[in-house]
Amino acid sequence: MCGIVGYVGAKPAAPILVDGLARLEYRGYDSAGVAVLGPSEIRLHRDAVRVRDLEATLPKRFGGKVGIGHTRWATHGVPSQRNAHPQLSADGRVAVVHNGIIDNAAQLRAELEADGVALASDTDTEVLAHLIARADGTLEDAVLATLDRIDGTYGLAVLDREHPDRIVVARNGSPIIIGIGDREMHVASDTSALVRYTRQVVHLDDGELATLRADGYQTFTRDARTTKTAVTVDWDTSDYGTDGHRHFMHKEIAEQPDAVRRVLKGRLDERFQTVRLGGLEMDAREMREFRRVKILGCGSAYYAGQAGAQFIEELARIPADAEPASEFRYRNPVIEKDTLYVAVSQSGETYDTLVAVQELKRKGGRVIGLVNAVGSSIARECDGGVYLHAGPEVAVASTKALTNMMVGFALLGLHLGRIRDVSPADGRRLLQALTALPEQIETILADEEQLAAVAKTLAQAPSLFFVGRTRGFPVAREGAQKFKEISYRHAEAYQTSELKHGPLALVGPDLPTVAIVPDDELLDRNLGALQEITARSGPLVVVTHDGVDLGVTSAHVVAVPKSEPELDPLLLTIPLQLLAYHAALLLGHDVDKPRNLAKSVTVE
Ligand code: AGP
Repeated sequence: MCGIVGYVGAKPAAPILVDGLARLEYRGYDSAGVAVLGPSEIRLHRDAVRVRDLEATLPKRFGGKVGIGHTRWATHGVPSQRNAHPQLSADGRVAVVHNGIIDNAAQLRAELEADGVALASDTDTEVLAHLIARADGTLEDAVLATLDRIDGTYGLAVLDREHPDRIVVARNGSPIIIGIGDREMHVASDTSALVRYTRQVVHLDDGELATLRADGYQTFTRDARTTKTAVTVDWDTSDYGTDGHRHFMHKEIAEQPDAVRRVLKGRLDERFQTVRLGGLEMDAREMREFRRVKILGCGSAYYAGQAGAQFIEELARIPADAEPASEFRYRNPVIEKDTLYVAVSQSGETYDTLVAVQELKRKGGRVIGLVNAVGSSIARECDGGVYLHAGPEVAVASTKALTNMMVGFALLGLHLGRIRDVSPADGRRLLQALTALPEQIETILADEEQLAAVAKTLAQAPSLFFVGRTRGFPVAREGAQKFKEISYRHAEAYQTSELKHGPLALVGPDLPTVAIVPDDELLDRNLGALQEITARSGPLVVVTHDGVDLGVTSAHVVAVPKSEPELDPLLLTIPLQLLAYHAALLLGHDVDKPRNLAKSVTVE
């Protein structure tokens, strides 16, 4: 979604702002802009262009040591120069960049117009600039007075010609992170824009504001000053490069063996054949009280949650299910005190998931997070959790974070299971299977050439089915999701058992099916479905285990190493990432930044 950067210090601000915007580019956007404080005026440069084009067209006179910048993902008003941020007040005194949505913008725009203000854009953000410029008092007073009139969500940064030593920032529902430099301060909506300059960061909470000056920062709310503790980010700039790969997605697929090693590191307890999850901040007695597990996430995180619910049910024999976080709060959910709620998110900033967590907490639910981004909003909002340690994920299509989500759920399932009825022998069996995962993933990745050839057979089909049963169904859903995200082909997932209840009507020579067929207790049933598809001349790609006799000769077979049955979904998912990647490549799409999508969905 939109991205914010800001700088106040002794260096020229524009190059720092542009560099920060380039690092936010992966999140997806349609316009970009920067504003700096010149000696007597705010200098503004913005357009509906990519950051490199914004940089190439920066005016010669664009000096200034305080500035703000923005990448926009249009909500109010088409992508255009006038709608790009920063937005200026009518007198040119105040510049604002804003993420989020102002719900009462139409009413405020009408009031401003009635008061003689000529509006210069179609955005909701513009009203902020006018209202701040028209309010009395210090810049902080003016921002507070303006926010009092706003309904909606915001992360924002404000520049004021009359207060040239500072930037004021505020947060409500959209992340704002302060970066503490050496006699300079930075601000951004995502740590990726900060790590080149500092690893010491401070996350604002909802309802908090901050004043940034070159020599420090002060946080406050409407009522009082607040005290914050800086945290150290352990990602650095090299994590945000492609490292010789053609795309971030390819790099992130290749990083999975190491990502899995990291999420397992220090958590496997060979002595008691269980796992250690200190971040849960709950002892065994508390963990035993839970009678149900409910997992909430969006998109691929939700599919990982579906796989996770199965891990947990199988391993711990606790009823578990997953639900899209985007729907949860709208059905006025019943919150039970003996249910463990789990929020799962790569970015930790997905608005729908964050608000679901807040709704849960408001109703007294116990919620833990499975989150990748350390210190992110969801991680901080939860009562504890398991960090996923996948490292920064830049490609919009999630791969290594999704894999680590599944591993995270396996760890949680084993932990809950060993507190209950899972035997030490079963514990040992699963620990061994978890330890073997990184090498098994390497084996799958080594078959990339074969997967690229199979992708060729799928890329031209206008529509595809992905099918799987029980453990294979979340795999099929995730496979379809990955395929449609980056190839723009219609891909639909079904339970294999549901085919004959309707979708089979579509199966024929023009509709390929990717079938997930693990070597498990449902193998015979899955083989029957393959016959049904073949009998209707449906092209087949079968993702299965080494050594399985499928009984069909026409299928493209993709075989992965066998894990323990509970963990099969993990390895079966990996080839589907490469199928989607190579199909998108063949179709000439922007693999890392698919159309209409953003990496981190911070609006509703
Ligand atoms: C994954 O490929 C998607 N881009 C998307 O579905 C994503 O998983 C979803 O938006 C949730 O994001 P999060 O994990 O950062 O919360």
